Amino acid sequence: MPTTVNTTRAHTVIARCLRLASFTEETGSIRRTFLSPPMRACHQEIARWIEPLGVTIRIDAAGNLRGLYPAAQPNAPRLLIGSHLDTVPNAGAYDGVLGVVLAVALLEQLQGRRLPFGIEAVGFSEEEGVRFGTPFIGSRALVGRLDRELLDTKDMQGRSVRGAIEAFGLNLEEIPEAKLEDGTLGYIEFHMEQGPVLEKMNQPLAAVEAIAGQSRREFRFIGRANHAGTTPMNLRHDAIAAAAEWILKVERMAQDIPGLVATVGQIEATPGAANVIAAEARLSLDVRHGSDQIRKDAVDNLIRLAQEIAVRRGLSARQSSVLKQSTVAMDPFFMAEIEKAIVATGCKPYRMMSGAGHDAMILAEKIPTAMIFLRTPGGISHDPAESVTGEDIEKAIECGLHLLDQLAASPQFHKRTIRA
Ligand code: HGY
Ligand code: MN
Ligand code: MN
Repeated sequence: MPTTVNTTRAHTVIARCLRLASFTEETGSIRRTFLSPPMRACHQEIARWIEPLGVTIRIDAAGNLRGLYPAAQPNAPRLLIGSHLDTVPNAGAYDGVLGVVLAVALLEQLQGRRLPFGIEAVGFSEEEGVRFGTPFIGSRALVGRLDRELLDTKDMQGRSVRGAIEAFGLNLEEIPEAKLEDGTLGYIEFHMEQGPVLEKMNQPLAAVEAIAGQSRREFRFIGRANHAGTTPMNLRHDAIAAAAEWILKVERMAQDIPGLVATVGQIEATPGAANVIAAEARLSLDVRHGSDQIRKDAVDNLIRLAQEIAVRRGLSARQSSVLKQSTVAMDPFFMAEIEKAIVATGCKPYRMMSGAGHDAMILAEKIPTAMIFLRTPGGISHDPAESVTGEDIEKAIECGLHLLDQLAASPQFHKRTIRA
């Protein structure tokens, strides 16, 4: 296994992430949502990189890019390696994309060598949940959960997931064919950590041991519009003021409970005029914790607080669930193999929780799943300033190649089959 730092392959990974970043819905910033036109350009660019490796590419009916690098034997089981290709608005160039580009780099580094298992490079179509408000649309198709309710979900323009799939030229009838092949051996996702931990530990890589559960809900404070100039303060039912009081209580609760994070990322007021007391405030809530019980209790308390504030202010409060995702543990066998591979690259083994959600949470419902984190300089992500270093990318490639060699030589790995 090479020990010299092969910076060209790391720089190719960075250049490719920046190339895919150029495929955006918004000039001047990175935004690529579910099955938007720039996603097609992404698929075509990635196809140009991997078809010369003998990879057969398909775009499944959920818009996921699926590229199979064949095994030494025909009909051998496959290992999935990948991440997501969609982004948040005003994104950085590495969240998700890095995991797909690293999968391509590993296939290139095999230099035609065939393993006892196939490798399917996967680029998921929608992990962030930006366009339809609900995440994991692509990966849910692989575990058979791209259901009618999700297909009927509408975006802000009133177009459904079903309509977006058809508009992209995909065939709804073929959704069942997006499901995981029987005998799939597992899923490995490389991803930037998106937080400050690895930088603080001065570690380039880590094995993820679990992905924190998350609750996403929509809250509405419904008051009464009135004239900003003539309505005395004690006669108001101001939706923005009620929302503001509640948002501060969201922050306070998360500050007081170790390990809890709670975020109001979206707020929309109507009618939205400077001289009109807001009639309604619509907010998003995102709550996460490694313990499902602590997360659920926190959400229940925040629902109760919203009701209390609304009643005291003469408003009403409504709320509905957008996503309930439990904490998901990663596969112990894979974690041990990943730590071995990290040590083989000359780094210390390290395990950590992921505060960010990932498609790996969904794949883990059906197959053994694991993630490898790369250090995030400054701990910044979901922002154009997010980055990864060439040295850490090089370590990740080395780690991935060690991991593939270990799995190829592991009788235990080959005995594992898809969990029903
Ligand atoms: O929101 C998340 O945790 C992920 O970045 N989609
Ligand atoms: Mn993200
Ligand atoms: Mn991501």
